[in-house]
Amino acid sequence: MRFFIDTANLAQIEEAMAMGIISGVTTNPSLMAKEGIKGKANVMNHYKTIAGLVDGRDVSAEVIATDFEGMKKEGEAFAAIADNIVVKVPLIKEGLKALNYFRTKGIRTNCTLIFSAGQALLASNAGANFVSPFIGRIDDIGWNGLSLISEIYQIFEKQVLDTEILAASIRNPLHIVESAKLGADVATCPLKSIEALLNHPLTDKGLAKFLADAEKLDT
Ligand code: E4P
Repeated sequence: MRFFIDTANLAQIEEAMAMGIISGVTTNPSLMAKEGIKGKANVMNHYKTIAGLVDGRDVSAEVIATDFEGMKKEGEAFAAIADNIVVKVPLIKEGLKALNYFRTKGIRTNCTLIFSAGQALLASNAGANFVSPFIGRIDDIGWNGLSLISEIYQIFEKQVLDTEILAASIRNPLHIVESAKLGADVATCPLKSIEALLNHPLTDKGLAKFLADAEKLDT
């Protein structure tokens, strides 16, 4: 399972790139707003900057329009920014039309706001390259987000669909490890969830012992 970083924060993207563990970036309007990006030109520039930072890796840029014509226009403008832009489209009827259109144009897509296996199946058939099931938001309402990853994986395997499963709305390291076990192709994670994977008390204890013993060495 590959990692994407789920942020529009340039410093965090650079940090994750330096760690050598990410294969892409996902953003959404909320993450862009969090960075204080305002106005269409600034949004486009910010996507261009991100696309340039990640050396050809995927960058999902989300459309704001909810009608087919609007999504088509926004998505084509995003796709013209750089070859590594993936157009992110919400799972609504107009979104399916947009996915189908982008498929005919060779523009790669990520279908977002997936909360059921049926929605994932629709998105895949409409041509989505990625489906993004939102694990954390499902957990937030007291359901089991990870079971959706499992359900989509079973369907895509059985039906031999090549749409990739992009586990999204990740809240903790367990979401990441379990998504990998259940067959997600990618998990898009905030930097803090990725960094939480580093932690183990035995690593800290072991390193402290090595460092203490290193002081005894004749160097
Ligand atoms: C990624 O593509 C999604 O937009 C993101 O993971 C949503 O996460 P959230 O539920 O924490 O906002």
